[in-house]
Amino acid sequence: MNILIIGSGGREYSIGLALSKDDKVSNIYFATGNGATEEFATNIDISDFNKLADFAKTNSIDLTIVGPEAPLVDGIVDLFQSQNLNIFGPSKMASRLEGSKAYMKNFLKNYNIPTASYIESDNQKELFAFIDNLKTTPIVVKADGLCGGKGVIIAPNANEAKEAVSGMLAGESFGDAGNRVIVEEFLDGYELSVFAICDGEDYVILPAAQDHKRIGDGDTGPNTGGMGAYAPTPLVNEKIYKEVEEKVVKPTLEGMKKEGCPYEGVLFIGLMIVNGEIFVLEYNVRFGDPECEILMPLIKEGVFELFYKTATKDLKNLKIKFFDKFAVGVVIASQNYPYSSSTPTQIIIDEIVDEELEQNSHIVYAGVTREDGMLFATGGRVLLCIGVGDSIEEARNFAYSLSGQIHFMGKKYRKDIAYQALK
Ligand code: AMP
Ligand code: GLY
Repeated sequence: MNILIIGSGGREYSIGLALSKDDKVSNIYFATGNGATEEFATNIDISDFNKLADFAKTNSIDLTIVGPEAPLVDGIVDLFQSQNLNIFGPSKMASRLEGSKAYMKNFLKNYNIPTASYIESDNQKELFAFIDNLKTTPIVVKADGLCGGKGVIIAPNANEAKEAVSGMLAGESFGDAGNRVIVEEFLDGYELSVFAICDGEDYVILPAAQDHKRIGDGDTGPNTGGMGAYAPTPLVNEKIYKEVEEKVVKPTLEGMKKEGCPYEGVLFIGLMIVNGEIFVLEYNVRFGDPECEILMPLIKEGVFELFYKTATKDLKNLKIKFFDKFAVGVVIASQNYPYSSSTPTQIIIDEIVDEELEQNSHIVYAGVTREDGMLFATGGRVLLCIGVGDSIEEARNFAYSLSGQIHFMGKKYRKDIAYQALK
């Protein structure tokens, strides 16, 4: 089987790496990939959807997998499906679950899925009135549209919440994405990432993961795309899994069918657990990054089938096996992340002599380019060190031992990934 993967980050690298080990897979292409994906695949420099579909036909691509949200929201799946090409991801209509937070919140309300109480509006008066009526602080203010993960402001008091609302509505903070605004109550709990792979009808829930969004140890400093993740997390018990299934996944699939856009692809459920109760913070219509990077190595058998049977609406016949293990991923970022870009700098990796480390850890590359056979860190999140072990502690030790073998100028990473599980 030939695969085309759309995207170029660590998430896409990890999907490609997992597929490259599946016997059913022959050739993998990336559009556009990064400097390291060429180790096991071919990079192509095409971004136009029609040209990608032509490429898929000419090169006998059996399955296209879309990594990031932007092409999904822009309708790549609709275009491929209209040409009878298999593609993993939700349609443009279904992608509104991530593309519009107002749509998502109204969907949650209409289908009785637990979420923070809120108002969504383009009317400043209405939004201010909701803020004045809120009994608790801080107050959460969100821009409706896609803002590259930056459209959420946690305001410490009503005045600052109102300032955030005005800035968004005026188009100052997030352009058109702030034309509509959501204000919601703050939920005080711990966050989880749960991924349900859906084919419109059936679903498979992957082991629950936890991301680390802040740049600094102990969850301090500004938000990032995610500085590390681990799975499965012991912060989830059978009761929570059951509730996610009954109160979130099933009503979402039913609801999306009723909305006329059955959900196909991966549904990323961002959850907040407050005193044992689940609340949906958000949906994303793609895998989390870095969560994907630690979920892929936990799949023992059936990774190709997972994607293929989703795209061909046959999940009920899926045979998938997970390792009875834990994975921890530590993001190694460049010097100025997440504030500004950094100067490209060469990556040096020590030879791994410890056999145990070699067998239980690996690198997932993200922000890298290749020149004259050498890898350069090009900024942002550069790579991840992944450790797999019989316990979270063991997996974490492998991940951190590996990170000690990697050198580039300005290398920066959190030292406490998985701390909530090891408290
Ligand atoms: P979102 O993009 O909606 O997931 O928001 C980004 C981050 O903001 C989340 O991962 C949470 O850490 C935080 N957040 C969003 N909504 C809330 C809320 N209602 N209560 C507390 N934290 C929130
Ligand atoms: N890791 C969170 C995200 O991908 O949005």
